[in-house]
Amino acid sequence: MKVVPDSYIVDEKGDAYIGGVSLKHLAEKHHTPLYILDEQTIRRNCRLYTEALSRYYPNSKVLYAGKANLNVGLINLMNHEGLGLDVVSGGELYTALKSQMEPRSIYFHGNNKSVEELRLALQNGVSIVVDNYQELQNLVALGKEGLRSKILIRLKPEIEAHTHDYIKTGQIDSKFGFDKEDLIRVTSIIKANDSLKYIGLHAHIGSQIFDIEPFLDLVDILFEHVGHIQKEVGLETAVLNLGGGIGIQYMTEDDPPEIPVYIEAVTTKIKRVCALKGMTEPQLIFEPGRSVIGNAGVTIYTVGTIKEIHDIKTYVFVDGGMADNPRPMMYQAEYTYALVRDTGKEKKVYAIAGKFCESGDILTHSVELPEVEVGDHIVVFATGAYNYAMASNYNRAVKPAMVLVNKGDVKILVRREKWEDVIACDQEITF
Ligand code: LLP
Repeated sequence: MKVVPDSYIVDEKGDAYIGGVSLKHLAEKHHTPLYILDEQTIRRNCRLYTEALSRYYPNSKVLYAGKANLNVGLINLMNHEGLGLDVVSGGELYTALKSQMEPRSIYFHGNNKSVEELRLALQNGVSIVVDNYQELQNLVALGKEGLRSKILIRLKPEIEAHTHDYIKTGQIDSKFGFDKEDLIRVTSIIKANDSLKYIGLHAHIGSQIFDIEPFLDLVDILFEHVGHIQKEVGLETAVLNLGGGIGIQYMTEDDPPEIPVYIEAVTTKIKRVCALKGMTEPQLIFEPGRSVIGNAGVTIYTVGTIKEIHDIKTYVFVDGGMADNPRPMMYQAEYTYALVRDTGKEKKVYAIAGKFCESGDILTHSVELPEVEVGDHIVVFATGAYNYAMASNYNRAVKPAMVLVNKGDVKILVRREKWEDVIACDQEITF
């Protein structure tokens, strides 16, 4: 997996293309900031999962974690690749229900789902990943309205994985999921209620993870509980959902595992554990977000102003920033940058800042680029995940458009907001 989309090329004149479409042309026609997604890369990432699984563990499903980047067209593309969907809010669920995705392929997560959100999910046959006792109680109550629930239980895995290391703790204070001590009580409640059906266990250990080992430990932890639930409650765990979390390259030095290597390691471990314990192999679910969509996306901006501050710093001001990509501010996230037209001029060091009224609105403090001029377009790579999804209207900015490119074709997935959209919910109160 690379930082740039599969179809990214730079021609002999220095002009960049994705999906056979010139980025300069896209900037001119669709304006900037603009999110661009490469269909070829998305499909390839999906297939890295589905093909590895059909080889190593066919009894499995891949759910796209919609929180990474969600809109109706994108869900339809994931559906076309045979993926299901994980949603985490009423808004994501509503979007999914407007798509071609079958509701039975949708799984609903969240630590504070409202009764209305749960009702909408159950009315449509969406599966529920239950987070806490209150939610279980709400599902029991909805059962009295004749709504049946298919349930996975979210377990606090007691593993916390970060990019390069992880810890196993006795008692993690995550807000998500049940403690392991709760599992027998939870499964007993489910067993005692006719409207609830236990399908299996879910755990998610973190995001942008580069190590495979914590996932292997997770398998051990989950199987301990599978055995325990079977013995104590007599319920069979038909499904294990291992969450998402495999990292991607943002900078060329980042070294995440290849998706098939991760799938092979985890499935081999599961088969070994099942053989050893004489257990039936469960259906496996994976929920990747970032590793499906992250490197398929880029953002392009236009440079409006260049400000030199004595000999200290040269700022390049772009027409977006923290509203379309809050990750540098929130997580000190780093990205790879290039000029849409590489002029071949001598390289200089720049800070790239956004246009928002906040001094922290800096995309990068230091990047080397060929000499930048006002009007140039800058491309930022690997912005497909958690950029549009986390975008805001700060300073009443309009959210950018998102286009999908492939073989010279351009589809608008999300149109650019207009200033009318910004005031659409304002009521005309006058004094
Ligand atoms: N499943 C569950 C239950 C999750 O909570 C998440 C992500 C995923 C799957 C997908 O994880 P992925 O494959 O994308 O790593 N806003 C942060 C990332 C938050 C991830 C939250 N959970 C960021 O911009 O880095």
